[in-house]
Amino acid sequence: MGKKVLVTGGAGFIGSNFIQYAVPRRDDWEIVNLDKLTYAGNLENLKEVEGAANYKFVKGDITNNELVNYLFEKYRFDYVVNFAAESHVDRSILGSEAFFRTNVLGANVLLEAARRFGVEKFLQVSTDEVYGSLGEEGLFTEQTPLSPNSPYSASKAGADVMAKAFHHTYGLPTVITRCSNNYGPYQFPEKLIPLMIINALHNKELPVYGDGLNVRDWIYVIDHNRAIETVLENGKPGEVYNVGASREMKNIEIVKLILKILGKPESLIKFVKDRPGHDRRYAIDSSKIKKELGWQPEFEFEEAIVRTVEWYKNNENWWRRIISGEYQKYYEKQYSNR
Ligand code: NAD
Ligand code: DAU
Repeated sequence: MGKKVLVTGGAGFIGSNFIQYAVPRRDDWEIVNLDKLTYAGNLENLKEVEGAANYKFVKGDITNNELVNYLFEKYRFDYVVNFAAESHVDRSILGSEAFFRTNVLGANVLLEAARRFGVEKFLQVSTDEVYGSLGEEGLFTEQTPLSPNSPYSASKAGADVMAKAFHHTYGLPTVITRCSNNYGPYQFPEKLIPLMIINALHNKELPVYGDGLNVRDWIYVIDHNRAIETVLENGKPGEVYNVGASREMKNIEIVKLILKILGKPESLIKFVKDRPGHDRRYAIDSSKIKKELGWQPEFEFEEAIVRTVEWYKNNENWWRRIISGEYQKYYEKQYSNR
């Protein structure tokens, strides 16, 4: 039988890749994309699926109780995938309120509607950042205690524990995925990889925070989305699944690699004031989803990073429109005086 799927935040980076991946493959799914179109939401990301019979867009806020209940009543969703979030750590340091509203309150509104109308699966898209920071050794497992350090990760942890509590208390079939750092097309230029590509293309300084030795664990966005599809269909209610591709990199290594791919000089690198409370290292153990659900990452980092750089080179119109607008003000605020 076909499934009705509510995807929230589907006009952002990961959500729009998810929708582009699912719409042509899943004619057994009717997808409704609820997105507020904040600075990070962009309908241009979804041009390829516009007009598809199994896809609909609704502009709206997940904190809007009335709208969310109306949509649940109208569509009687089988699956919910909650991508909608304020997602950028640096912005959460500049001000945390929007993070609390969308990431905690918004998730709660969706959970309450799911409880009221009933769903087959509610997937809360979470992040490895809820585990805090690692030292030189070790990996985050699903048993690692939550210890978020930034307002962003604290708000994501808030939604996680709420989703867990709804399973425990009401038997709502919630599942949580905690993924590591994504890269790929349509990522908003505030994030490390697109920011460095675009600055390098402009021969502009590449601002590396602190000593550049912080470690992130990188996964291609389509591999993350395949994991979400797997957990949505086969994940066990009440469970958490870590998702990652075991590709740890120091920030400075990524930045140098981007320069190498673009044939630009390392003299563009500028070490700048560190991010306050900057988590040192993330690394994720995803053996549970591999063993229990048979998911595996498919993309090789070396190839997918080149593909990503190429995408930004070939889609200048996409990012030019973004960086010429409101984003310019954010960039000034974030990077002047660093
Ligand atoms: P993004 O910032 O690119 O997109 C977020 C989307 O949510 C935007 O389209 C925005 O308009 C929408 N949105 C924001 N507030 C909303 C609201 N109140 N109501 C409805 N829509 C709203 O984010 P992303 O990088 O695509 O991340 C998507 C999800 O995945 C987030 O929950 C994030 O925490 C999680 N995640 C991201 C990464 C990563 O590396 N980017 C890794 C793990 C988990
Ligand atoms: O781990 C998953 C998380 O990855 C997601 O939950 C978040 O939504 C996503 O934004 C991302 O968070 P990070 O803080 O790891 O990503 P960001 O791209 O902001 O930064 C990656 C690393 O690069 C981090 O160590 C900070 C550093 N950095 C970032 C920027 C923007 C720089 O050195 N210079 C920069 O200008």
